Amino acid sequence: MKFQEIKNNIFYCGLNDRERRIFDELIPLEHGTSYNSYLVKGSEKIAIIDTMYPPKSDEYVKNLDENNVTKVDYIIANHGEQDHSGSIPKLLAKYPDAIVVTNAKCKDNIIEMLHVDEAKIKVITDGEELSLGDKTLKFIIAPGVHWPDTMFTHIVEDNLLCTCDFLGAHYTFDNLYSPDNCTIEHSAKRYYAEIMMPFRTMCKKYTKMIHDMKPEMILPSHGPIYKNPDFILDLYADWSADEGKNLVLLPYVSMYKSTEEMIEYLAKKLAAKGIDTQVFDIVTGDLGDLAMGLVDATTLVMGCSMVLAGPHPMAANVAYLANLLRPKTRFASIVGSYGWGGNLTGKLGEMLSGLKLEMIEPLLIKGKPEAEDFEKLDIMAETIYEKHKSVNLV
Ligand code: FEO
Repeated sequence: MKFQEIKNNIFYCGLNDRERRIFDELIPLEHGTSYNSYLVKGSEKIAIIDTMYPPKSDEYVKNLDENNVTKVDYIIANHGEQDHSGSIPKLLAKYPDAIVVTNAKCKDNIIEMLHVDEAKIKVITDGEELSLGDKTLKFIIAPGVHWPDTMFTHIVEDNLLCTCDFLGAHYTFDNLYSPDNCTIEHSAKRYYAEIMMPFRTMCKKYTKMIHDMKPEMILPSHGPIYKNPDFILDLYADWSADEGKNLVLLPYVSMYKSTEEMIEYLAKKLAAKGIDTQVFDIVTGDLGDLAMGLVDATTLVMGCSMVLAGPHPMAANVAYLANLLRPKTRFASIVGSYGWGGNLTGKLGEMLSGLKLEMIEPLLIKGKPEAEDFEKLDIMAETIYEKHKSVNLV
């Protein structure tokens, strides 16, 4: 595969992984993913920015051979996670004179995880520059988006910014450049939800910083290149904003349809009040869709059956995931049904407690809902409406 030139001797040398169907063994990939790597040929030195996911190393190295890359002086490691750093040992074997350039935290990770010889690593600090002759690489330490070792690399004269995982998308492509359409928006939002949302404050900070830098293009380490940086920066500004949307997310698991009936009823009542709803079947749904719902939801209502004497384990899994993702959700409640007893709302409430949500009176019933239960759901819908009104969403 011939490397495509992005600008003035800067080439894309990454790979698509169209067959990959799950990332982190957790979130399904709708479009596979790409592992982006960039070859920067200065007048005196040659650098590669980020490398490759280990299972793709052979193909990656073969492509370097086919493109006659016989010399590499610097391997820039923006991040130690192995989907980007994993091929460093192979590159060092291929280019024995190359030096890995990275920050102190990433250096430790590369040594500990990949067993790279410390003598082969040059440590840089925030704002430091590295000359390639007619091109300069400037490093911006950006901890938190999404590892403590993350940094960005600015190719100064060409004003291209390599943002590592930040602003990326799990997406594969033939054309390197983002079409800036709703498909890319969907993939980028899914990626943000799963990977960046727990670090929302840092996302806000770096979104603004990059906006002020005005790079000509953004070169992330997954997904297409943004020729129009404002497309992705505006989306990040929206997703990472402090205010949620007028949206209630209702994930549920229902063994005998009672919980499902209550969740569907509540969703209908909320919709009638002008509140957007997203009902999510935990058993058949895609966790990526759930995570995307958490980006915007102001309220979370968990629907849950009792298993033995506690919440259904699949609802517990969602509560655990929500805690990890740390969404900006403000309010929550629980709707559930049981057969013979146990502690559902208490235990599930405890599982959600890390999110510091304002809890709305839950509803737990025995068996199938009846008229008085639906009246209680009417009250729950009205309470949620009032909560959304209190934060100026309706
Ligand atoms: Fe794409 Fe954090 O690695």
